[in-house]
Amino acid sequence: MSTSNRKETVLRALLRYGLPLVIVLVAGVAAASWLGGGGSEGVVQPIAFNHQMHIKGKEEMACKDCHRMVEKGPHATLPSVNQCMLCHEEAKGKHADEPKIRQYAEKKEEIPWVQVNHVVGHVYFSHAAHVSWAKIDCSECHGDMKNRTEPVTHPQVDHLNMDRCVACHEERGASNDCLTCHK
Ligand code: HEC
Ligand code: HEC
Ligand code: HEC
Ligand code: HEC
Ligand code: HEC
Repeated sequence: MSTSNRKETVLRALLRYGLPLVIVLVAGVAAASWLGGGGSEGVVQPIAFNHQMHIKGKEEMACKDCHRMVEKGPHATLPSVNQCMLCHEEAKGKHADEPKIRQYAEKKEEIPWVQVNHVVGHVYFSHAAHVSWAKIDCSECHGDMKNRTEPVTHPQVDHLNMDRCVACHEERGASNDCLTCHK
């Protein structure tokens, strides 16, 4: 094959497969940032949950009452509808979203909360290690959740890039071996 022929073949292949590939890649990145709540509008949560009302109101709930695995496992976990129904079997508060809790429960459906904070796939993170062993307060990474009145719609831990993780590990004498975080 002559050089010009090869160029032509590459060009033709690019035209045929290249453009769709670029579209797929761009769409993939857009979808990933949308799913991760990276867009400027953020995600829409199914119910207007109010942290402050549950933590500082008459109930004085602890974080682990709802995020049940936060001291024990890698993932904090989001609450199931049954956890809400412990109190919301009867109407409470004034917000128009509140009756939705019972509607999900009657349909035997989970409330479709969207998780907004994510580390990328090749990184390992454990709540138990940071919360139970290292005794780091939630607010160091998630800000002032106790006074939050609106649902979380944007990632709060995007400042937790590798530099931030490594800087704190350095400061507190935790391991910075690559394999600590990359499994
Ligand atoms: C331990 C009991 C308890 C649990 C568990 C509980 N709530 Fe509540 N919730 C309350 C009480 C009490 C109020 C009313 C507070 C007030 O009026 O000061 C309330 C109010 C609300 C409101 C109304 C807010 C407003 O502005 O009027 C919503 C929405 C709500 N809760 C959602 C939830 C969801 C979702 C869950 C599960 C993730 C949940 N709650 C779990 C006790 C609870
Ligand atoms: C050292 C930083 C750090 C601390 C301290 C921390 N978190 Fe997180 N949190 C993260 C990171 C990073 C993610 C994303 C994890 C992932 O993608 O698996 C996250 C995710 C979450 C999520 C999403 C759901 C899930 O299953 O992980 C919840 C809920 C949460 N954290 C609650 C808490 C609570 C409650 C505390 C305190 C008791 C806490 N976190 C302490 C960094 C932290
Ligand atoms: C009554 C249950 C309840 C309690 C108590 C509670 N949370 Fe939550 N939390 C939720 C629900 C429901 C969501 C999802 C909706 C939202 O963002 O408000 C959530 C979301 C979060 C998220 C965002 C998770 C993500 O990445 O999507 C963080 C971080 C978090 N909570 C931290 C805390 C901390 C810290 C405390 C204690 C100071 C706490 N929560 C107490 C129910 C609770
Ligand atoms: C504010 C300080 C701080 C930040 C930020 C932080 N870490 Fe850590 N991390 C620690 C400390 C302290 C330990 C040691 C815990 C122990 O073993 O007592 C630790 C331990 C770990 C471990 C070891 C857990 C095990 O099972 O042995 C992993 C993995 C880890 N961190 C990942 C991360 C990642 C990934 C990030 C960033 C997304 C991060 N950490 C951010 C302080 C931090
Ligand atoms: C304390 C946790 C931690 C340690 C230790 C760590 N990393 Fe990372 N690393 C992360 C996190 C979190 C990300 C994803 C966020 C980002 O790209 O900043 C990441 C991302 C990366 C990436 C992808 C970068 C990119 O731009 O996409 C590479 C490559 C990498 N790490 C290599 C290493 C190597 C090599 C070491 C050992 C010298 C190491 N990491 C140690 C937490 C860690």
